[in-house]
Amino acid sequence: MSIEKKIEQLLEKRKQALLGGGQKRIESQHSKGKLTAHERINILLDEGSFEEFDMFVTHRCTDFGLDKEQYYGDGVVTGYGTIDGRLVYVFSQDFTVFGGSLSESYAAKICKIMDLAMENGAPVIGINDSGGARIQEGVRSLAGYADIFERNILSSGVIPQISAVFGPCAGGAVYSPALTDFIIMSKQNSYMFVTGPKVVKTVTGEVVTDDELGGPEVHSSKSGVAHFIANTEEEGLLLIRKLFSYLPSNNLEDPPFVDTNDPIDRMDDYLNFIIPDNPNKPYDVKEVITRIVDNGEFLEVHGQYAQNIVVGFARMGGMSVGIVANQPNYLAGVLDINASRKGARFVRFCDAFNIPIITLVDVPGFMPGTTQEYGGIIVHGAKLLFAYGEATVPKITVTLRKSYGGAHDVMGCKQLRADINYAWPTAEIAVMGASGAIEILERKNILAIEDEEERKKYIENKINEYTEKFCSPFEAARYGYIDDIIEPRNTRYRIIRSLMSLSTKKQNLPPKKHSNCPL
Ligand code: HXC
Repeated sequence: MSIEKKIEQLLEKRKQALLGGGQKRIESQHSKGKLTAHERINILLDEGSFEEFDMFVTHRCTDFGLDKEQYYGDGVVTGYGTIDGRLVYVFSQDFTVFGGSLSESYAAKICKIMDLAMENGAPVIGINDSGGARIQEGVRSLAGYADIFERNILSSGVIPQISAVFGPCAGGAVYSPALTDFIIMSKQNSYMFVTGPKVVKTVTGEVVTDDELGGPEVHSSKSGVAHFIANTEEEGLLLIRKLFSYLPSNNLEDPPFVDTNDPIDRMDDYLNFIIPDNPNKPYDVKEVITRIVDNGEFLEVHGQYAQNIVVGFARMGGMSVGIVANQPNYLAGVLDINASRKGARFVRFCDAFNIPIITLVDVPGFMPGTTQEYGGIIVHGAKLLFAYGEATVPKITVTLRKSYGGAHDVMGCKQLRADINYAWPTAEIAVMGASGAIEILERKNILAIEDEEERKKYIENKINEYTEKFCSPFEAARYGYIDDIIEPRNTRYRIIRSLMSLSTKKQNLPPKKHSNCPL
């Protein structure tokens, strides 16, 4: 055969491979409002940057007549490309081929790019849209999943791993995304569950739809499995590009510096008045965040889940930061099980990838009650404590208002190796709030007063006395637990100066195999 013919043959086979399971199935995919595996990659990556691997791989299964049904690529598109010029590895499951189900060869394709990503210190982005294990391949498919899981685990904390779920993701298949750092689900067509509605009905008698069991709303607000919901697949893919802009390519690099035209010494007078006079009145901590970060840009993570704590990425003076803030606007910013888990996971991510942590504190304490205690608030709260105490990245804490009890210690206090601790003049750093404290300390004296008016007056005086002494930042500053009390309007500048001063920070943990973080 002449070289011209050979090239023609190659081009023909490429064309065929690009069609996946065929035009009819592509149309069916489009009719559901879904994009194809290649279309998704093209939106995700810089134009023309995608280099595909293994497009001629096919499965090797001969059972159930599969030897007669072969598709180039075998249901997953893999390769590498760039996002804003930075190398990333990508796999995109192709639902048009056997419903995107995973075969032995398919798993090997994914493992190949995962290995390359680790060797080259670049992230892996996985786009999931699959019917799970390829039923005809039996245990070889399960082994393929396990090969991927092991790589997810070994890559954790070394390279960022980001998962998009744009279709079904069920059974054990859910565990690969779950092992990655972030999950983005599309509003339509996506669901994740370990066992589907049919099995649920048989085992528990519950009747639920796919969406009720594992749709994006459920996972973004109830289970916390998904970090983001995207209205469309395109929005989800662009979100991944944005998310990656805050992250380094691996754990040995710093996140990219993005020059800003937002002056580092920009004051914001509004912040001097954002804390209400009444200590029980809420305000929106996101407003504080957007007023101090570069150009007001804040990428919130887990926005719908455990809204009593806010976490997300921003830049300050061009430097990537992870922000953790109690949210007085939701459950008064109390720490409960979900907030602790959410905060801990985020702090550990930032620490693994050299992203400094800025903590904004306004926390009345831990949530009381049997639901919390039976659910293990002790262990879950300890996760957040552990995450802060173990983190060696620069940590800057600003106490805005309440910082009470155990929650004070958990939220980036000095003794958990926070580097710089500031407080606003409105800060109240104490074991507990004034009325609770007086109830305990003065119980006997209060009961001894018979006249009601007199008793009220006594309590009021004692509360004022306590408030004066403890519900301020000065007591903590007296011991050096607070490095300085700052004007709220100057918070941006003080944090950025702190970040600059900590940019060469080095702190180590004692040698160990790994910690035994309370799980
Ligand atoms: C082989 C599969 C498949 C699978 C779908 N297909 N799932 N082929 N193995 N797991 C094929 C279908 O036969 C069909 O082929 C095509 O993909 C599209 O499927 P449809 O059913 O027509 O599509 P749709 O109606 O959209 O339904 C999608 C679906 C459904 C919800 C995913 O196909 C489904 O329930 N599949 C089975 C899911 C499942 O039980 N998987 C195993 C889970 S256990 P044609 O030729 O008609 O186009 C698991 C264990 C993993 O994954 C363990 C890891 C540790």
